[in-house]
Amino acid sequence: MSISIAIDGPAGAGKSTIAKRLAAKMNYIYVDTGAMYRAMAVYFTQNHVNPDDEREIDASVVNVDISIEYADGVQQVILNGDNVTAFLRTEETGRMASKTSKYASVRKKLVDLQRKIAKENNCVMDGRDIGTAVLPDAPVKIYLTASSDARAQRRFDELVAKGEQCDYQTIKEDIEQRDYQDMHREISPLCQAEDAVLVDSSDMNIEEVLQAITDIIEKKNARIATTKSGKTVILAESAGFCFGVERAVNTVYEQVDKENVYTYGPIIHNEEVVKDLESKGVRVIENAADFKNTENGTVIIRSHGVSKKVYDDLKNTGVEIIDATCPFVLKIHTIVREESEAGTQIVIIGNEKHPEVEGIMGWSVSPVHVVDTVEKAQNLALDLEKKVCIVSQTTFNYNKFQELVEIISKKGYNVSIRNTICNATEERQTEARKLAKRADAMIVVGGSSSSNTRKLYEICKNECNATFYIQTLNDLDLESLSKADCIGITAGASTPNNIIEEVYTNVRIKL
Ligand code: F3S
Repeated sequence: MSISIAIDGPAGAGKSTIAKRLAAKMNYIYVDTGAMYRAMAVYFTQNHVNPDDEREIDASVVNVDISIEYADGVQQVILNGDNVTAFLRTEETGRMASKTSKYASVRKKLVDLQRKIAKENNCVMDGRDIGTAVLPDAPVKIYLTASSDARAQRRFDELVAKGEQCDYQTIKEDIEQRDYQDMHREISPLCQAEDAVLVDSSDMNIEEVLQAITDIIEKKNARIATTKSGKTVILAESAGFCFGVERAVNTVYEQVDKENVYTYGPIIHNEEVVKDLESKGVRVIENAADFKNTENGTVIIRSHGVSKKVYDDLKNTGVEIIDATCPFVLKIHTIVREESEAGTQIVIIGNEKHPEVEGIMGWSVSPVHVVDTVEKAQNLALDLEKKVCIVSQTTFNYNKFQELVEIISKKGYNVSIRNTICNATEERQTEARKLAKRADAMIVVGGSSSSNTRKLYEICKNECNATFYIQTLNDLDLESLSKADCIGITAGASTPNNIIEEVYTNVRIKL
């Protein structure tokens, strides 16, 4: 399976210069999509096709085949078997290309050809909609831009160097107008793909831009590998510990040299980590009855957080408390406490049995309503006279949250909606969905009791039937991956890096 690098961005940002240099550096082919539109224009000119007659264009397009070859490292464009590279830059071809590139049939034909080239070769492709429309699955997407001032100055310097008369202000206005047209055109407007990395070259020279993009690719490539049998293995960027979990786990490891270290509940939903900490003397307490044993110890509150009562009970025992509650969860505690103190009714969208939700409930000074199904949302009956504040469990599915909020909002309450779903969860789920769509097999790594890993598994299974939920490498049957050309790997927020690396490395070297 080949690897594509998509470079998009506004005109004059230096895309083609960078794309060519990058392709040469990486030994990939550079696909000049503009040259392909020009080759199509050569066909129309040679065959006297009327550029203003869409039906004539549509009928002609089916007869065109364009491919790219290389002679001494220089791209040659082949039109129906003939090398037409020499005709691409003529005025006549340029006029024909600009008149005909707007037609849907022309675009579709060329996009199909571009995808075919990308499927068969490692390539760098530049344009305005490569990452968003032509190669939406490209593993590396760059959005290369520069301010209109910087682009105007570059163009001005270029024309002056050629001895041409020009006006800086006019150039700048032209660039801004072109940007506007490109961003507002009907078919595939210019925009940054969600998963593209933005590189602003305003204050950079070509070498610096090249280096910046190479660094991005190297970082991504560390997560994309080709096995000896030619399979592509892709490790999701968002796989593994989120910021809050990493912070909590590190906090415990920083304390392990002390006597009597406890965590309030397992620090994360991962048996391997909990076992490792246990071997280092860290014990887990589950409820108030255990407090008496911890008087001279240290209790670490995990990223899920705890209720105010648990916090106060711990404090009263005199133990040292280290609060590793994720700051995003602490924010929900504050909202719930302040709103409930002001007389607002609290609704939590989440699973009432989840420790994070139990903790959040415990910061309200009045009874809380927890909703996680359509039925519960429909049956929810609150006081119409009082305000309602809706918050969410940080790991709740966004679409489900929207659905439940919509049902509650229609009941006529004075509702304030606080979307407290954590971005880390959303990003991990979105990336997993995308990867599963592309992959022939997916591996989801995480503890069996981790609800966010289970959700990831469900999302992946929906897109890719051959999805496997494993806790460690021992659970993985490599044979089940033998038919897959592209294998994706993702992991829940509580899966340690060494377990993910072990799976990634073994899949890479054993298949
Ligand atoms: Fe915190 Fe978000 Fe992780 S809420 S614990 S960073 S999933």
